[in-house]
Amino acid sequence: MTTTDKDRVVIFDTTLRDGEQSPGATMTHDEKLEIAELLDDMGVDIIEAGFPIASEGDFRAVSEIAQRSKSAVICGLARAQLPDIDRCWEAVKHAKQPRIHTFIGTSPLHRAIPNLTQDEMADRIEQTVTHARNLCDNVQWSPMDATRTEWDYLCRVVEIAIKAGATTINIPDTVGYTAPVESADLIRRLIETVPDADEVIFATHCHNDLGMATANALAAVQGGARQIECTINGLGERAGNTALEEVVMALKVRGDIMPYTTGIDTKKIMHISRRVATVSGFPVQFNKAIVGKNAFAHESGIHQDGMLKNAETFEIMRPEDVGLSGTSLPLGKHSGRAALRAKLRELGTEVGDNQLKDIFVRFKDLADRKKEVFDDDILALVTATTEGDDALQLVNLKVVCGTGGPAEATLEMEIDGEDMSAVCEGDGPVDATFKAIRMLHPNKARLQLYQVHAVTEGTDAQATVSVRLEEDGMIATGQSADTDTVVASAKAYIHALNRLIVRRGKTGKDVKEISYRDVT
Ligand code: KIV
Ligand code: ZN
Repeated sequence: MTTTDKDRVVIFDTTLRDGEQSPGATMTHDEKLEIAELLDDMGVDIIEAGFPIASEGDFRAVSEIAQRSKSAVICGLARAQLPDIDRCWEAVKHAKQPRIHTFIGTSPLHRAIPNLTQDEMADRIEQTVTHARNLCDNVQWSPMDATRTEWDYLCRVVEIAIKAGATTINIPDTVGYTAPVESADLIRRLIETVPDADEVIFATHCHNDLGMATANALAAVQGGARQIECTINGLGERAGNTALEEVVMALKVRGDIMPYTTGIDTKKIMHISRRVATVSGFPVQFNKAIVGKNAFAHESGIHQDGMLKNAETFEIMRPEDVGLSGTSLPLGKHSGRAALRAKLRELGTEVGDNQLKDIFVRFKDLADRKKEVFDDDILALVTATTEGDDALQLVNLKVVCGTGGPAEATLEMEIDGEDMSAVCEGDGPVDATFKAIRMLHPNKARLQLYQVHAVTEGTDAQATVSVRLEEDGMIATGQSADTDTVVASAKAYIHALNRLIVRRGKTGKDVKEISYRDVT
């Protein structure tokens, strides 16, 4: 079956907006820029870079992403209010191809929040979409909670938005309520019913509350949608959004029944998945489709036997198609810095000279301690690299623990250039260590999440630890990796504290004052 332009599906990535909005997934400014660049390089058509009116930080991130954009359209989100739309335009206007995305909740439940009648809301939609279109040629409009909006009213407001100049109509399943058969039907009927529907692109935006986000998005495409809104690793509000890697690979592998194409370079999937997991502090579940650690692992004897004879027996796609090499690192403790840089490049990671120096020291240390160093170990070292100018640095840690008594941590830290030490007891080695850190750097940050993962196999495997802290509404995630789990935990905790210090210092209380749910 051949495909034509009408079968090209536009990939709209909202990792930096809907994804970042998910509690605890906050990314720093530099991390947002890095992810945007990776998305652009992998062929994402549209990047929703943030919600410019939400905070000064969001505004700065969207403007800078817009200024640095290469091929992707850069989009910002705005509520149905003129100041929101103006602020959004201010941020995206620097892009080679800017887009304003404005929305309002149209279902009865959502109309009740700003207390607008159907007519009043219809007027607001006409006014705001017209305003957006006067600023920008490329305007997307979304009736939030479309899948629970009365059919007649949905048709009416979509028609108004098209007449007012919207170029893309997005149909969100905001609460992840719809099912695939309905998803296809809704888009199909809208295209058949609303006048001039063929003048615009219909988009689908699904949430995963019932685990149907990917199926719903693909069904919507079969119903006529030509833009899928998605995120890397399915990051997003509550149970997340449609996962980019899932829809893209589903379209690639099952082109026989879904003859649609995307512009995504699928070989870049694995790298960006790992980077998003790292910077968001949301690890990928082991059995996650496409990007999970086990997605291409074949453990059972029957499977391994089949795989050795013919990989197609148990594999519907090749690991290389998503950028997995699966090889162990042919570098040893005698390898030089140039070889390490070449390996990092092969893994899709570019580092500056200073960072390379730091990673190299850690690599040598690891190669001395660990029998085999795998690609994943190297990527974990990149994650574990801290900035040299951090206010808090771990100098030394010794922990005594065992049965029949509390653990005792002796900790040495450099705080603003000064060496300090503390000894603390705790309920286990990690508790004792965290107490010692708090003794040396008193703070009221609340521990929201503490997670440990083994990077590779074996008792000498590196552990990656994620620590999420919350202080006065600000959230910071720290990460680190080490063959010693307690050392990795201490470094991750200190990393999160350093991030809180930077956020406090640079931006004051840069909390999102406005949420996209504030629809008045
Ligand atoms: O889920 C949703 O409805 C949204 C809109 C803002 C498009 O994210
Ligand atoms: Zn959403």
